[in-house]
Amino acid sequence: MFSRPLKICASLVCADLLHLERELRVLEAAGVDSIHIDVMDGQFVPNYCLSPDVMRAVRRASALPMDVHLMVVRPEQHLEAFVQAGADVLVVHQEATVHLQRTLARIRELGARAGVALNVATPLNTLNYVLEDIDLLLIMTVNPGFTGQKLVPATLRKIADARAMVDARGLPVDIQVDGNVSFETAPKMVRAGANWLVGGTSSLFNPKWSVAEGVQRLRQVAEEARTK
Ligand code: DX5
Ligand code: ZN
Repeated sequence: MFSRPLKICASLVCADLLHLERELRVLEAAGVDSIHIDVMDGQFVPNYCLSPDVMRAVRRASALPMDVHLMVVRPEQHLEAFVQAGADVLVVHQEATVHLQRTLARIRELGARAGVALNVATPLNTLNYVLEDIDLLLIMTVNPGFTGQKLVPATLRKIADARAMVDARGLPVDIQVDGNVSFETAPKMVRAGANWLVGGTSSLFNPKWSVAEGVQRLRQVAEEARTK
């Protein structure tokens, strides 16, 4: 159940973009495991976000891995651009690509780890025949597009079902959660089987505490959930 390592992914769009380099130094010192890059195209979701240019800027300033969440239609048209810009894990939405298996195989061929994201309403069984092609399964815990939303409670059951599905097949798949990962919700998500946590405004980037405190506290509540 808790065999996969716990990772804290810092959602860069929630950081102070005016002081990107300073934010990266803080995140490195706080020991985050990955920088979560949200990419939005104004079509798949009604918003715009980060880009390969921002990723290149991050890469110049930091060696931290980048997990890239493509909330764009037809992601298969843009895989090369994001791998070349430094994506270590490239995540596409199941709802956005027609030939999902081909898209996932191409990501691995390009040298990145392949991820699939599922919107709240998308069932898990849509991945039944592509599970071997996946390194990371991103369960959206809010409807994507905006920061600062509330957890959709039914997604906790979905995390548990996802963990049971990959464990039953003995596959080395990480389960990532994205959206309202807070000190209150993270333990529930971790107990359900999530092991990659995306920290946004609900945990790491909140004016009420420092980023370093946020990282430390998120890791602490998550580790406790894995031991109790
Ligand atoms: C998903 C969001 C998240 C972000 C939200 O579309 O953009 O990536 O991390 O974090 P919260 O929900 O904590 O503001
Ligand atoms: Zn995201």
